[in-house]
Amino acid sequence: MKNLNQEKCLIAYFSREGNNYVSGKIVNLPIGNTEVIAKMIQEITKGDLFRIDTINSYPEDYTETTEVAQKELDENARPELNNRVQDIDSYNVILLGYPIWWRTMPMPILTFIEEYDFSGKTIIPFCTHEGSGLGQSEQDLSKICTEATLLKGLAIHGSQVQTAKKDIRNWLNEIGIIL
Ligand SMILES: Cc1cc2nc3c(=O)[nH]c(=O)nc-3n(C[C@H](O)[C@H](O)[C@H](O)COP(=O)(O)O)c2cc1C
Repeated sequence: MKNLNQEKCLIAYFSREGNNYVSGKIVNLPIGNTEVIAKMIQEITKGDLFRIDTINSYPEDYTETTEVAQKELDENARPELNNRVQDIDSYNVILLGYPIWWRTMPMPILTFIEEYDFSGKTIIPFCTHEGSGLGQSEQDLSKICTEATLLKGLAIHGSQVQTAKKDIRNWLNEIGIIL
């Protein structure tokens, strides 16, 4: 295993606040679940945080968002992003976070990946979900990140994000990001 604990990390994540489905009911999340996890990872690793944002925001309503997301998936869409990472070359390790949408990552994650050259870098996925775990997302990532090394991802259930710090630490330790 590579010694990654000296590397400068980028924590890039997509997350959607607003109405979401958590443990069987619709709740309003002022901060998205994945954002909560991304910030915990930042606190532990002291890496740089980058929020992946789309020009067109997703609806506040949960069901409407599932419809938009389904259409984007069917069309293999690449929703346009409104921001870019400054100096991507200064990062060798990218922790990439997203909610699971329709058993994989949201399409803005594909836009993000295709905007940069990740060859030779290490990409480590993490997600929040309602039961699918990482779903198909690791396989889907490996198809488009052919020149990068992909490490084992972490999946946190949406209802567990506030208490996930220990699991995050254990995972970061297991993959060599922290000692
Ligand atoms: C469009 C959409 C599709 C979803 N599809 C799934 C799914 O297939 N499997 C799953 O476990 N959770 C699914 N969820 C639930 C989210 O993954 C979960 O609520 C996640 O924690 C949301 O993270 P966020 O607050 O960072 O956006 C879906 C949620 C949305 C909005």
